[in-house]
Amino acid sequence: MTQAPATALFDVDNYIAINEARWTIADKVIKALRHSGMVLDTAYDFGAGPGWFARRLNHSKLDVLALEGRHDVAEAGRARAPNCEFDVLDFDNCATSEALPPRDFALSFGILYHLENPLRALRMMGEMTGKAMLLETMVVPGDDFIARVARENPNETQGIQPLAMILSRAALERGMWAAGFSHVYECTLPVEHDDFRDLKARHPRRGIWLLTREAVSIDGFEALKIEEPRRDDYWRK
Ligand SMILES: C[S@@+](CC[C@H](N)C(=O)[O-])C[C@H]1O[C@@H](n2cnc3c(N)ncnc32)[C@H](O)[C@@H]1O
Repeated sequence: MTQAPATALFDVDNYIAINEARWTIADKVIKALRHSGMVLDTAYDFGAGPGWFARRLNHSKLDVLALEGRHDVAEAGRARAPNCEFDVLDFDNCATSEALPPRDFALSFGILYHLENPLRALRMMGEMTGKAMLLETMVVPGDDFIARVARENPNETQGIQPLAMILSRAALERGMWAAGFSHVYECTLPVEHDDFRDLKARHPRRGIWLLTREAVSIDGFEALKIEEPRRDDYWRK
């Protein structure tokens, strides 16, 4: 019996559907940032998978360095997106000093919630972002600054480590503060996939945020006030 390629799960219909939905937003944002005068020539694609987004970023006239934690998936990316460079970087097993020089734009889609330490990775991603990062991640419901330790499925689309930490929205915002972004905007545009919707039986599982170094005004992105976190008395009964 022949073995399925490492990338087979990236090519299933639901995966492509959520990619299309997210790309609609990414494409709008890149065009709007450029329209506002921001020069975007270079980009990172963090946790790139086999290059679905890297190719599109490249078609949007960006010089792309795609970073992927798995060697075989990065290799598939090199074949599928030959105009992009692919490097292997495991966000949970690298030193923060391995952060690469900033590029104008960064796409961080579908990676943060697969990591053991999303806060540290977000800080590294911040260091590598010159002007703007578009972040899509899962969040756990609840207003508190919390995270859930989740079992990862053992396949190539998931985390490399067996456990990942999924942040709440409030915890994620603290991470954005620690990553040094001065401007944070939440996407209020409809994203055409159920994972982004508030359903009768399920909270929204995902969201999209734009993080920038300078203030921008993009239709469908609402500015969030990210303040330095206060330390509360978590132990009070
Ligand atoms: C859900 S896929 C997302 C792919 C693409 N960015 C997207 O949004 O469709 C997660 C990707 O992150 C990679 N990944 C998982 N853990 C990683 C880590 N610690 N460092 C870097 N990449 C990792 C996986 O190999 C996989 O390609």
